[in-house]
Amino acid sequence: MPMLEGKVAIVTGAGGGIGREIALAMALAGAKVVVNDIGASLTGLGEGSATPGEQTKAIIEQRGGQAVTNTDSVADWESARRIVASAIDAFGRVDIVVNNAGILRDQIFHKMTPEEWRAVIDVHLNGSFYVSRAAAEPFRAQGSGAFVHMTSTSGLVGNFGQANYAAAKLGVVALSKSIALDMQRFGVRSNCIAPFAWSRMTSSIPAETPEQQARVEKLKRMTPEKNAPLAVFLASDAAADVTGQVFAARNNEIFLMSQPRPLRSAHRGEGWTPELIAEHAMPALRAQFLPLDRSADVFSWDPV
Ligand code: NAI
Repeated sequence: MPMLEGKVAIVTGAGGGIGREIALAMALAGAKVVVNDIGASLTGLGEGSATPGEQTKAIIEQRGGQAVTNTDSVADWESARRIVASAIDAFGRVDIVVNNAGILRDQIFHKMTPEEWRAVIDVHLNGSFYVSRAAAEPFRAQGSGAFVHMTSTSGLVGNFGQANYAAAKLGVVALSKSIALDMQRFGVRSNCIAPFAWSRMTSSIPAETPEQQARVEKLKRMTPEKNAPLAVFLASDAAADVTGQVFAARNNEIFLMSQPRPLRSAHRGEGWTPELIAEHAMPALRAQFLPLDRSADVFSWDPV
C-alpha cells in the first residue's frame, strides 16, 4: 500500500521549488493534497499569482492524484485558518502539515530594516505557528497528525546577511520541538528538515569568486525533489516513533543534525571569578568552539 494512502496533506508554498516536489511526492504516495501558495516573488513583495499552485495541481492530476489549490497567505492567523479549513472542506480531514512557504530579504545586519526583519519572521516563524496552531485542533480531536517544518542550515549553522531568516529558521526548530512535546499525548508528531536545493531561493547566491562558483556548481546538482522522500517518510505512519527531531537532506545524504547540547563542561567547586574563567575554563571550552565561518564548519558544502 502506498505510504500515505487515505491521508490528507497541506503543503504550504507548494507552487514551486521544494514545496512542489513534496506535494507531488505526497500525492504519488497516495495522499490528497492541498496545494497552498500565494505565488509570491522571492521577497514576498508585489502581486501574488494563483498560477504556480494551479500548475502543481495540474501535474498531480495528470499523474492520477487528487489536489485542490489554496491561495491564502500563511503569514496571517485568519488566513492560516482558511488553509486548514480548505483541507477539511475538500477532503473531510487533515493528517499532514508541511510548513514550507518562504521568502528572503537578505541584508547585512547593520543595514537590516525592521521591515526586512518582520516580513521574514512573519512568513517563516509566525506562518509556521499559525498554520500549525490551526491544524492542532483537528489533530487533537482525531488523536493523530504529523507536522514537517522546513528549517535551514542558515539557522542551524549560520550564514552571512540572513539574521532575519536564520532567527526565523532556528525559531521553527524550537517551535517543532515544543509541538512534539505538547502534542505527543494526542498522537501528534513534529519534525524539521533543513533542505538543500537549487531553487529560485538559492539561485541568487553570489558566484563571483572561484570558491563561490564551485559552491554554486555543487548546489546546482541538488535538485528540489531530493528533499521529498524524507518529507513523505516523516509524514507517514512508518515514522511513528520519530518526533522532535531535526534532519538535513543534502542530495543523497540524510543527516541527523545535532541539537544544542553541552559540548564540554568546566566545573570548580568554589565557583568562578571572571579571571578564573579566563585562565582555567576558557582554554578547555575554546577547544570546542564551532567555527563562525560556514565553509569551515564540520557541516561543509562539499558533497560526499
Ligand atoms: P521557493 O522560493 O522556490 O518556494 C517558496 C514558495 O513559498 C513560493 O512558491 C512562494 O510563492 C511561497 N510563499 C511565499 N510566501 C508565502 C505565503 N505568505 N503564503 C503562502 N506561500 C508563500 O523556495 P524553496 O527553495 O523551494 O524553499 C522552500 C522552503 O525550504 C523554504 O521554507 C526555505 O526557507 C527552505 N529552505 C530552502 C533551501 C534551499 O536550498 N532551497 C535551503 C534551506 C531551507
